[in-house]
Amino acid sequence: MCVATSTGKRASVQPSPPWPIASWGPIRRGSSIRCRPGWRGGGPWGCRWMSEHGLPYRKIAIAGGSRGIGAALARALAAPGRQIALAARVAGQLERTAQDLRRRGAEVSCRAGDLSRPGAAADWLQAISRDNPPELLIIAMGLFGGRPAAGQPVPEAVSRRVIEVNLTGAIALAEAAAVRMRQAGQGRIVLISSLAARDPLPDAAAYSAAKAGLSNYAAALRTELAGSGVSVLLVEPGHVETRQAAQQVTQEAKPLPMIVPVEQAAERILRAVARGRSRLVFPRRAALALALLNALPRRWRAALMRDQRFTVDNGPLQPEEAPRPPCNG
Ligand SMILES: NC(=O)c1ccc[n+]([C@@H]2O[C@H](COP(=O)([O-])OP(=O)(O)OC[C@H]3O[C@@H](n4cnc5c(N)ncnc54)[C@H](OP(=O)(O)O)[C@@H]3O)[C@@H](O)[C@H]2O)c1
Repeated sequence: MCVATSTGKRASVQPSPPWPIASWGPIRRGSSIRCRPGWRGGGPWGCRWMSEHGLPYRKIAIAGGSRGIGAALARALAAPGRQIALAARVAGQLERTAQDLRRRGAEVSCRAGDLSRPGAAADWLQAISRDNPPELLIIAMGLFGGRPAAGQPVPEAVSRRVIEVNLTGAIALAEAAAVRMRQAGQGRIVLISSLAARDPLPDAAAYSAAKAGLSNYAAALRTELAGSGVSVLLVEPGHVETRQAAQQVTQEAKPLPMIVPVEQAAERILRAVARGRSRLVFPRRAALALALLNALPRRWRAALMRDQRFTVDNGPLQPEEAPRPPCNG
């Protein structure tokens, strides 16, 4: 069952503590020391809690962590000593991902619900914050939608939902976290936008507009939070092998260009988090190809892009499965 877990005993909530944290075993300056599982030590600082990515975050929240990029990030982060809160709409998938993370040693809580509903983001943040807000919040929730057939308009309901989830919902969540993290004097917010923010997709125009809005919002939030101890990472990926990519139906079922496996995408994002970067665009060659394409006259560009057009399987805009109470935490 996926239920709320107690926050347990925390050694520190500092993402990158410059001072010695609680240690175990004798500490001798400059000598090797023994540390608890999940902690690394050595030198004068004693033991520091670290993952294999060198990330010191212990309390992590992932919106849209049930599948796709969010779930791959959760799997890569799951380790003994970590508390991971997941949120998404479909309880069954959340439950399966939560079980996987627990097998890897993490404490997991999850919330099944639509985070784009007014007040839902703040509610979730309130529930998982209790003593302290998450040290790392990853906003990976997203909904893809676009042109269902060549020459057909995008249904209004699709455009509205796409903007509600990818832009309004993501902003509400980032705002709710920013307030709490600022009070705590620390935190890191990761927003997953898209390369479509830089180079809009004609077959998914509302999606591209939502992502452009999110990228702009991330830049504004970064400036707003400067000096507060809270940092922002904006991620703009190209195609990644997830359900979103599967919704894009290309002519003659050609594979999407320069598509990246989901585990590789997660790895790149975590490396950028560990390095303290403020922006990550990948794959680089896709960004470069788009920049070159943009330099061409519009007619040439349209001709070259013809092969890249797709239709979209919009699927159900609401989850097929009703949220079940056991996953609420
Ligand atoms: N895959 C790509 O090619 C690609 C490229 C560029 C950017 N991105 C972006 O990367 C992010 C992750 O995408 P992905 O490829 O991993 O997509 P995905 O496999 O479709 O996963 C989306 C996640 O968001 C959750 N979600 C959707 N609507 C929600 C809502 N209203 N409230 C709460 N959770 C919600 C989904 O769970 P439920 O359905 O159960 O709610 C799922 O966990 C998205 O923002 C996406 O736009 C993806």
